[in-house]
Formats: sequence, C-alpha cells, structure tokens
Amino acid sequence: MERVKRLNEETINKIAAGEVIDRPASVLKELVENSLDAAASRISINIADAGLSLIEVSDNGRGMEPGDLRLALLRHTTSKIEDVRDLLSITSFGFRGEALASIASVSKMEIVSIPKGRDEGIEIIADGGKIVGERPVTGDCGTVVKVRDLFFNTPARKKFLKSRKVEQTSLKSVFWDLAIPCTGVDFIYRSDSSDLTTVPADVAIFARVRLRESEIGDSLQDFSEVSPYFAISGLVSFPVKTFVRTNRIFVFVNRRAVKDSMCVGAVKEGMRGLIPENRFPCAYLFIEVSPEEADFNVHPAKREVRFRFRKELFELIRYSVRNLFVGGVWRDEGVEDSPVSADFWVPRDRDGMGIFRSKAPGETPFEGGVGPSSRSVTEEGESHELFISPGSFSRMKIVGQVLGNYLLLDGGDELFFLDIHAASERINYGKVQKDFKHWLESPEHLLISVDIPEERLRGHTEDVQELLVELGYRVDLQDGVVQIQAVPLYLKGIDPLSVVEDILDMIEGGSIDATAEPKRVLDDLMARMACHTSLRGTRRIPDGELRYLLDDLASAGYSQTCPHGRPVFIKVTRGDLHKLFGRT
Ligand SMILES: Nc1ncnc2c1ncn2[C@@H]1O[C@H](COP(=O)(O)OP(=O)(O)OP(=O)(O)O)[C@@H](O)[C@H]1O
Ligand SMILES: [Mg+2]
Repeated sequence: MERVKRLNEETINKIAAGEVIDRPASVLKELVENSLDAAASRISINIADAGLSLIEVSDNGRGMEPGDLRLALLRHTTSKIEDVRDLLSITSFGFRGEALASIASVSKMEIVSIPKGRDEGIEIIADGGKIVGERPVTGDCGTVVKVRDLFFNTPARKKFLKSRKVEQTSLKSVFWDLAIPCTGVDFIYRSDSSDLTTVPADVAIFARVRLRESEIGDSLQDFSEVSPYFAISGLVSFPVKTFVRTNRIFVFVNRRAVKDSMCVGAVKEGMRGLIPENRFPCAYLFIEVSPEEADFNVHPAKREVRFRFRKELFELIRYSVRNLFVGGVWRDEGVEDSPVSADFWVPRDRDGMGIFRSKAPGETPFEGGVGPSSRSVTEEGESHELFISPGSFSRMKIVGQVLGNYLLLDGGDELFFLDIHAASERINYGKVQKDFKHWLESPEHLLISVDIPEERLRGHTEDVQELLVELGYRVDLQDGVVQIQAVPLYLKGIDPLSVVEDILDMIEGGSIDATAEPKRVLDDLMARMACHTSLRGTRRIPDGELRYLLDDLASAGYSQTCPHGRPVFIKVTRGDLHKLFGRT
C-alpha cells in the first residue's frame, strides 16, 4: 500500500519555485521587488545570456544582518508581515517569504549584504538551495544578489523556456513594469553588451512611460481622476494608434504591475465607438487604492488582485478614458475646466444609470499614502495635443467631392480625405447626446399617437417599451400594443418606428441583454439614430452645405472617428506622395 510521507525541504522548495519562478524574468521581478522593499534608491541590474548564466541585482537598501541573511534563504521567512491580520493590508511588494528560497533552490546563488549603519556584513554562497559557503565582507550598506546557472538542476523547466530573444524581451518588460511606477529610484539595466537602459530617479511616471513607448510616445494622452475609493491616472494612445491585442494595456495597482481583465475591459468600454470593435489602444493605468480594499494574496506571483469596489473602479476607468476623448451625455458640466473632474457615481433611477458628482475642493480620497510606498502616482498633466484640431478643417480649401462619399481638402502641406457620411454621423451623434443631456434637465414632449402592434415587436415588447422610456418617450401598453403618446423634444425629427427597429436590431444582434449597461445601450442607440439622419455621398452636395458640415465638425469636439470607430478623415502628406513616386 502507498504510504503518505512528508516531503523534504528541498522538494518543497522546488515545488514552490515551480509556481513563482518559471522563467528568468520572474527571478528579476522578485529580486528587484526585494530591493524596493528594502527602500533602495539605486537599483542596478546585470543580465547575461538572457538570464540563464547570470541575473545580478545590486541595491543600496537597508541590507540584512548576517543572521537574517542566513534565515532569508529558508522558506516562509520574511520581515514584512507577522501574522494573518497583516495580510489584510499589504503595503510591501513581498509578503510570502518564499522568493529567495525558491530562487536559491533552482540556481547557484551568491548574496552579499551589509546592513544599514555598518560597513561589514557577510556573503553567503548557496548551491541548489544549500548554503555551501560563508565569509565576512566589508563595504557600503546594501545587498547584491547574483543568480547563476538558473534551472541547472531542473532540466525540465529549462526545456520549457522560450528562445533567448523571447526571454530577453520578457526580462525587459518586467524591468519596465517595476521601473515605471517606482519614481525616486535610479534604475540601471544592462543585458550582455547589447542593452543599457537607465531611468533616473527624478523622471516622472508619465515620462517613464513615454521613454518606454518611444515610438508612440507623442500619441499618448494622460488623465487623472479620484473617487472615494480610488485615485487613478494614466495614459491612453490616441485612437489612431490601436493594436490587435490587449497586451499593450498595462495595469498597476499601488505600484504593482498586475493582470486584470476587468480593467482592460473598462478601457475597452471607454474607447467604445472611438476605435474599431476588435482593436485596442496602448494604455497605462495607475490605480491607487487603500490596501484594505484590495487583496493581493490571490496569486502565487502576486500578478492578480481582487478589489472590494470592483464595479466603481470599472466605471471610474471607463469614464476617465472616455472623458479624455469625448464630451458626451455622460460628461458632467465643468469637467472640461477642472483637472480633478468627477469622482462620484450616484445611482439615479435605475441600477447603473448615474451621474458623477464633482469633487469638492480639498477633498482627498485617502488619509495619507497607500501602497508599497506613499509616493503619489498622479503627476502634472501634459498638454492634450490632438492630431489635428477639428477647427482646422473649416479653414481649408475645399477641392471637391470625389469618388462619391469623400471630400478632398487642401490643408497646405497636406491633403485630407474626409468621409462625408462618417463626419455627418459624428456631428449628429454629438448633437443627439448633447440635446439628450439638455432635455434631461428640462424634459419637454411633443404629443403624438403612434401604435406599434405586437407582431412588429417580434416578442420583445417589454424590452422595447423599457428602452423607449429610457430615451424619454411616453409609452403605454394596451393589449400587447405599444402606444407612443409623446416624443421627447430632442427626438422630434426622428421617426419613432425607425427607433423601434434599431432597438429590435440591437436585441436580436445580441448587443442588448440582461448584462448590458444601460448607458452603453443608450449610447449605441444614439449612434444608430445619428446614422439615420446623416448625409450620404450618393448625391452631389452643394459647397455651401459642405462648409456647414466642416463648421459643425469643428464644434462637434472629438471628430477623429465616427460613432462606430471608423476614421472620419485620412491625411496624405507631401512625404507620403513623395514616397509613392519614389522620390525619397
Ligand atoms: N535586497 C534586500 N535587501 C534587504 N533585505 C532583503 C533583500 N532581499 C530579501 N531581503 C530580506 O529577506 C526576506 C526574504 O525575502 P523573500 O523575497 O524570500 O521574501 P519576502 O520578500 O518577504 O516575500 P515574497 O516571497 O513574497 O517575496 C525579506 O523579507 C527581507 O527581509
Ligand atoms: Mg520578496
């Protein structure tokens, strides 16, 4: 019969290492986090052979006493928490007390540490987790950890590693994950002789992001918002810079890089209608939350986090991102002028419908600082320079309406092709949203009488009725017939039957179901209504009317894409033409 046996320490460590230390990048993450927890102000990283022959991290932090250093290599030894209550408010990167033991068990490790206030300490040499040497050393306070021959004793793990290039990329991306949010620390990163990156302590967070994203740095727009539970700030690439995957959306919670599909979803929702459906922006979100309201102890490598006020966070992110680009229905008056624009989600008549309350001057979301350090991630906003200001079109020379639906404009050094229908849709969408918002303040109706018989409602009578009411219609239900008795004044020019058809299309197309946010449904509906009343390039449009279109576009505010996310215009520069003619 099989006997139950207690595993020995070495096997336990290797199993733990399997969870936390799966590739060179995770070693780097753990070592740098330890240096940050030791309050280092300079962290220097040295990598050789994609981390397989050497990962070295030196810091000028508080160091360890010899006794602590010997202990630190054992599992479940930590100076960061004492008991289970501390797990409820974690303010350090580490707390599990197993990173060093795990790394040591799968490598040959040398650690030198000199504690603060001394000029001597010890060096420990370990091989596969066993201490094989120790000697006294002298020097400045701080710690140097050298990890050599990673996975030398776990060939299976080594086999699963990707190419050197991929491992190098993931080391570098871990470096940025740590260096970007941790201002006040000088970072130096060397990888063989091919890469030397330095991030000086005084470079602000947004500037660090721009350093990393140098090729799209100019197109990143920044924001910051606060709510009672969260302070968030971040950068989002201007909608023309989009990507097919979500891997350019980075989320940091109290300076810790995490993977969080909810936050990614909120960014996507915020960009809805501004970029095509299956594309994503590059975005960086820095979230600060009181440690009591977040649980970091849900993933062995702490790559995930759970929030107590998840729904509020989703709304705050969605709102902030949207607010950057669109002044729509959901935007509060005064948001435009105020850097701290809105922070309160007050439910109105039904769940999820709400308005933001502006933050009172001097109100702060938290007492004191939060997270691994109290350094704030919010920083001075940089200018919101748009790709082209919508007003510029009004000043351009109209060359003519070409290829049916396009308007060709001469912008001096550049030509612009404007999609007439998309531009008109953008204008009408903005108008409908604005009118709706004003209408909410003083709702007026136009009495009519339109009956929609049951068979036209294709079995969705209740949903249709409910959405019509959301939009402001006065509706009664009599024997299965929806009777529209009054139209909200802002929709007076739109045939109610086409609105009913739009609602049915959305229900049958799956975009309205029990989980759909009412705000989004209304937004989508308005985009559809905008489409009905928009110009189409099937007829020749008089120049005067085109001028009006350009002026309206200027006052529509955001005008880069139509409500479905397609571009409103395309720019062709002199350089583009030169390239086409081979003149470069
Ligand atoms: N660079 C360093 N400077 C000073 N002390 C350090 C350093 N690295 C590790 N230590 C000490 O060694 C202890 C063990 O480190 P280890 O990374 O194994 O665990 P932890 O950081 O406490 O938790 P986690 O496993 O979650 O990282 C730490 O709690 C800390 O006291
Ligand atoms: Mg640690």
